[in-house]
Amino acid sequence: MNVDLLIHSAAQLVTCASPGGPKRGAAMRDVGLIAGGAVAVDAGRIVAAGPSAELRAAYTATRAIDASGKTVCPGFTDPHTHVVFAGDRVAEFEQRIAGASYMQIMAAGGGIAFTTRATRAASAEQLAAEARPRLAAMLALGTTTAECKSGYGLDTASELRILQAIAMLDQQQPVELVPTFMGAHALPPEYAGRPDEYIGLVVNEMIPAAAEWYHGSHFAARGTPLFADVFCEQNAFDVAQSRRVLEAARAAGMRLKAHVDEFSALGGLDMALELGAVSVDHLDATGPEGIARLARSGTVGVVIPAVNFNLGSAHFADARAMVDAGAAVALTTDINPGSAPCPSMPLVLAIACRYQRLLPSEALAAATINAAHAIGLGDRLGSIEPGKQADLLVVAAPDYRHLAYQFGGNLVERVIKRGQVY
Ligand code: NIG
Ligand code: FE
Repeated sequence: MNVDLLIHSAAQLVTCASPGGPKRGAAMRDVGLIAGGAVAVDAGRIVAAGPSAELRAAYTATRAIDASGKTVCPGFTDPHTHVVFAGDRVAEFEQRIAGASYMQIMAAGGGIAFTTRATRAASAEQLAAEARPRLAAMLALGTTTAECKSGYGLDTASELRILQAIAMLDQQQPVELVPTFMGAHALPPEYAGRPDEYIGLVVNEMIPAAAEWYHGSHFAARGTPLFADVFCEQNAFDVAQSRRVLEAARAAGMRLKAHVDEFSALGGLDMALELGAVSVDHLDATGPEGIARLARSGTVGVVIPAVNFNLGSAHFADARAMVDAGAAVALTTDINPGSAPCPSMPLVLAIACRYQRLLPSEALAAATINAAHAIGLGDRLGSIEPGKQADLLVVAAPDYRHLAYQFGGNLVERVIKRGQVY
C-alpha cells in the first residue's frame, strides 16, 4: 500500500498508547517505546506504527522522513490556555519582583482586570493578530492542539468577540484549538461588590449567547466540544457562585472545567468532581484527601508548574502524590499574560520533573494522551495509534527523556499536524 508519509528508523518511537482512557498511576510510566520504530500516515491519519523493517516492507510512501538518531512522539496537547488577550503585563512582572504578590495586584484592580481593559478595546481581528505569534511559538515547541479560553472580556459582547477570535485562529493556523467559555474568570470592575449579580449575567445572558455562537460555529460542525470554566478562588468566585455557572453551562450542553485550589482550597474541587468536570486545574493547595477523591474520579487533574515557577514560588502541586494515588494527571502551560507568559510545553516538562518529581515518562504522558483526555479529545488524538489523527513530533535526540532533561532550547525539529509537515 502507498501512504502519504512514512517516518522510519527512529531511535525511539514513543506511542503513549492508552486504549480506553487516560493513563493513570503506574501506567503513566509506560511510554509504549518501540526502538527503531516507524509510523505510516495517510490522509492525515495514522495507519500503522511499529518496527521500521515491518512498515518499510508493508508500505511505499510519497514522502519519507529518515528519523535515524531521533525520537518520534505524539504532538503535545496544551489543555489549559488563555492565549487570546490584548497587551501584556510586563509592568506587573516588575512589581512582583519588587515584592507585590499576584493576589495583591489582583485585589488592587490589576491582574486579569488590567488585561480586560485592553481586551475590551480590541476587535476580534486584533485579538487574533496578537495571538497568532504566540500560537506560532507553541507550534514550533511541539504543541499541535490547545484548549483556548475566553475570560478577558467579562461582558457578553467582549466574551463573544474572544470566542470569534478563537474560531478565526483555529482556521488560520495549524494548532488545533478547542474553545472554552470563561466569563466567570474575574469580577469586572463595574460589578464590584455585586458578584452574584455578575453571576446572574453570566448564567442568564452569556451562557445562552456562547451556546448559540457555538452551534453556529465550525467547532460544532466538526464535533469539537465547547467547554465552560470558572475561577473558584478568593477574590474571584466562591463555590456557590462557581456551581451556578457550571450547572447552567452543563444544562446548555457545555462540558466542564474548573480552576480550583490555586491559592486556597475553598471546596471547588469536590464541587467540580461532583458535577463530572472533564478536568480540574491548578490543584496547588489540594491536600491528601482531595488527591484521593481526584484519583477515584473520572476527572483529569491538570497541574500547572509554570505558574509556580513564574510567581517565584517554591510550592508546587503535589503531582507525585496524584500519580501515586492513581489519578490521571496532565500538564499545561496555562499561557496567559499574568501568571504564565509561557508557550513551551517542553519547559513545563522540565519544571515538572525537577520540582514535582514526575519521571520523564510520566511527564510525557501528562503532556500528550492525558492532556488530550483533559479536553475531551483523547479518543481522536494524543497518542500514536492506528486510526488516530497524525499529530507527531520529530525530536532531535535519541531518547525521549531529553525532552525534559535539556531545557531552554528547542529539540523539536519537525511538527506534523493532521499529516502535514511543518
Ligand atoms: O490560570 N487563575 C486564573 N487565571 C489565570 C491567570 C490569568 C491572568 O493572570 O491573566 C491562571 O493562572
Ligand atoms: Fe488558567
